[in-house]
Amino acid sequence: MIGAVRVLSDRMFRSIIYDLLVLPEFQNKGIGKELLKRCFEHFPNSEWLVQTTEKISSYYEKRGFKVNNDVFLTIPCKLFSHT
Ligand SMILES: CC(C)(COP(=O)(O)OP(=O)(O)OC[C@H]1O[C@@H](n2cnc3c(N)ncnc32)[C@H](O)[C@@H]1OP(=O)(O)O)[C@@H](O)C(=O)NCCC(=O)NCCS
Repeated sequence: MIGAVRVLSDRMFRSIIYDLLVLPEFQNKGIGKELLKRCFEHFPNSEWLVQTTEKISSYYEKRGFKVNNDVFLTIPCKLFSHT
């Protein structure tokens, strides 16, 4: 496997990308773009969400995403808290 995208969707209104990954030696060959294209084709009417870092956000902006400044609330996963 050289790339993967993980999506959770209600198949209609809202789809969330959890991970988009391409092996370093295969990056910049259009694989990430193709994975996103297939997601959009699969649920063509859906709103799409992705949470990412500032560093990667321009990648998604190139693919049609817009930065959304809505309030985002979380409860951290207990499996990853080391306090
Ligand atoms: C981000 C990632 C998925 C992109 O996949 P890719 O197959 O390498 O990218 P593509 O070939 O589809 O796209 C290449 C284009 O994106 C741009 N790009 C690549 N990485 C970028 C980044 N980190 N930030 C902004 N733009 C980026 C390239 O400059 C290129 O631009 P161009 O189309 O104008 O020439 C891949 O670099 C990756 O797996 N990164 C590490 C994991 C990661 O950060 N995933 C996102 C988590 S939400």
